[in-house]
Amino acid sequence: MNTINFKKFDIEAYKPGKSKVKRLRKVIKLSANESAIGISPKAKKLIFNKNLILEKYPDGKSQNLRKEISKFYKCDSDKIICGAGSDEIIQMICQLFLNPKDEVVLPEYSFLMYRIYSKIVGAKVKFAKEINLKISIKNILKKITKKTKIVFIANPNNPTGTYLNKKEVLELRKKLDKRILLVVDDAYAEYMKNTDYSSGLALFKNKENVFILRTFSKIFGLASLRVGWGYGSKKIIDALNIIKPPFNVNGIAQLAAIESLKDKKFVSNSIKHNLIYARKLKKFLEKYNIYSNEISANFLLLDFEKCKYSAKFLYKKLKNKGIILRSTEDGYQIKNKLRLTIGSKKENLEFMKAVEQVLKL
Ligand SMILES: Cc1ncc(COP(=O)(O)O)c(C=O)c1O
Repeated sequence: MNTINFKKFDIEAYKPGKSKVKRLRKVIKLSANESAIGISPKAKKLIFNKNLILEKYPDGKSQNLRKEISKFYKCDSDKIICGAGSDEIIQMICQLFLNPKDEVVLPEYSFLMYRIYSKIVGAKVKFAKEINLKISIKNILKKITKKTKIVFIANPNNPTGTYLNKKEVLELRKKLDKRILLVVDDAYAEYMKNTDYSSGLALFKNKENVFILRTFSKIFGLASLRVGWGYGSKKIIDALNIIKPPFNVNGIAQLAAIESLKDKKFVSNSIKHNLIYARKLKKFLEKYNIYSNEISANFLLLDFEKCKYSAKFLYKKLKNKGIILRSTEDGYQIKNKLRLTIGSKKENLEFMKAVEQVLKL
């Protein structure tokens, strides 16, 4: 036979938030939870530096970056691994922990890459139903069997925007069997100002059976450079370093991430901007009976149940005007809702103007 064979996966490929509209040159992209205020000026200056050394391989261990991360987040640099986005860390965790037929438990509405990478290595994914779009500890525990190896949660969760408070996260870890790895994805943690919230990193710095995910794609605005990191026991980090691609984080990404960490003002501006506009947008949409989650990360999940128009209707009308939101029907399979990323001031104002034109009161 001269046909080539490869593995077939029963997986729906990840569809990122759309960024293009046919026939429109300029669009407002509010579909991928990217930074509303761009990147730190310090990082920008670095990227445009003409003397960057690009002909040499980068530091495969991201040593300087890990040192800066450990200073910024007051954690141990030996327990950090950097990746080409936190995405790559999720992939490596699945490779390291999962054998075919092992089980992974996920909230039903969770970041899609957990299920995709779990399935690629042959694990079985079990979904725990959320209650009122919030992760249910009880439903997660119901799905645990002897074969369960990992439970993934993002806190706050994407795409629902809801979160487990500190007490609830601790309760989840306490009630889970000790041999199960709890992965807490802190992708949006820096935005969180809710007083009952604690990040995974703050709660579990010294826990052997918790692994934390972090990213430079959200508050630091480096989504295109692909930098993220994982934090776990030295034993897990050493094992991950064996399977890690040798130069997984490119040199510019490492340098830009370091500069971003030095720019505390940029981070605080980003948090401030997010709170101001999340409040404005939430209140504005309520005039149209479009309700959303309590403010948490840099996005809102818009619920159209009480609105006289459907999510699909608004999605299409806005798209025709070049404003793109995230449909939650694709992939996530959540009906009659849209995910709205908090944009720049100009983008938010244009979004509100377009909604006023489309949804007449
Ligand atoms: C919860 C969550 N985790 C991880 C990621 C991936 O981030 P990265 O760009 O670091 O791969 C995203 C991106 O949207 C996310 O929402």
